[in-house]
Amino acid sequence: MALKCGNINVIDLFESKDLVKICAPMVRYSKLQFRNLVGLYGCDLAFTPMILADSFCKSEKARNNEFTTNNADLPVIIQFAANTVHDFVGAACLASPFCNGVDLNCGCPQTWAKKMGLGCSMLNEPELIFNIVRQCRNQISKPFTVSVKMRINKNISKTVDICKQLEMAGASFLTVHARTADQNTGDINSEALRLLTSQVKIPIVANGGVKTLEDCYKLQEKTNCKGVMVANGILNNPTIFMGNSITSMECIQNWVNICYNSTFQNIEMLQQNVKPVFDEKPYNLTFQCFHHHLVFMLDKILSRKQKQVFNNFQHFQEVLGFLKTSFGIVPKHFNNDMYDHFKLIKTDYSNRDQVYNKLKPNDINKIKDILYDCESNKGKYFNSKIQENENQFCDLSGMFLENG
Ligand SMILES: Cc1cc2nc3c(=O)[nH]c(=O)nc-3n(C[C@H](O)[C@H](O)[C@H](O)COP(=O)(O)O)c2cc1C
Repeated sequence: MALKCGNINVIDLFESKDLVKICAPMVRYSKLQFRNLVGLYGCDLAFTPMILADSFCKSEKARNNEFTTNNADLPVIIQFAANTVHDFVGAACLASPFCNGVDLNCGCPQTWAKKMGLGCSMLNEPELIFNIVRQCRNQISKPFTVSVKMRINKNISKTVDICKQLEMAGASFLTVHARTADQNTGDINSEALRLLTSQVKIPIVANGGVKTLEDCYKLQEKTNCKGVMVANGILNNPTIFMGNSITSMECIQNWVNICYNSTFQNIEMLQQNVKPVFDEKPYNLTFQCFHHHLVFMLDKILSRKQKQVFNNFQHFQEVLGFLKTSFGIVPKHFNNDMYDHFKLIKTDYSNRDQVYNKLKPNDINKIKDILYDCESNKGKYFNSKIQENENQFCDLSGMFLENG
């Protein structure tokens, strides 16, 4: 495994690379261990799952729950859902030492988000989005990036207008999922993307429907985008940006190694050169995170019968037993340099909430532990994938988007 080093300037990435390859924000899935994995396979930039900015500002527990990082995590953009300046800018100021930029979610079409005035409903209030971006830009200096991820409007000139204004407000780049809020599947509107790249000077990242590296380059050729973002395609194949058509066994081995090694925090043990013992469960990692990713990665590798067994596992030991018997894969120890590179960085947020406290209205003063507990059930996206396998003839792929 090669180590990624140093703090990378995201805007330099857009300037120096022909095409910036990006792992999409994915609730439940684009967490630290997965970002670390795709970083080994040609991914240039990764987004966290969407995090509710107001919980992030108000609750230490939410911060520690929703965002972890390590030295192998750079560059990373934290995506927030917010509909006030104080929540977004406050969250950005808290998080800024630990990430390379923040992104405002203006694409989530889920009913709960729309009801709360978050996600794609923000596009109905463009002035608010511009103000959020402008104030964030004024508060945190470059090279930290401030970006927006959005869907397109049926009336594409409205989207062009919003993008132009966002550019003037100081947005560093924009990600456009080229479907409207009521389209979950189907062809994306690449003409709309082409129009946007011709009208806006800041980098446009194209998103939607990419399944292979070839698709990435074709999309760039059609749209002239500076970056391509992938969600479904990278879940199924974290090596997509290397040009592989399916997940390699080496990638599965690396996933298991990252999950089992990167969650250790016992630095004293490492300093004394005592290797931690891999017991059944990796520290600080849910079974859901470990297992769901393997389910997606193995989708094209396991037979239908194998999937019916594997996909229903409930315990780490069952998964490890299966991987060992079927592929000879067992968790392997990192060497000391690797432990160091992948160990969690302590995210100390103390005294970083002045901006939030200054901006927030006076009547918000209670600390609320509002946690978005995405582990409380398996999630629509995972369930749709399982159903797909149970009933081969019914293609539900992409029907139940978790978000976005
Ligand atoms: C499981 C899952 C979770 C997602 N979570 C988010 C999210 O947190 N924020 C966001 O902006 N989009 C989210 N999306 C949408 C994706 O980022 C992306 O815009 C969409 O899936 C289209 O890209 P694709 O065709 O490459 O999958 C999610 C998508 C999936 C499949």
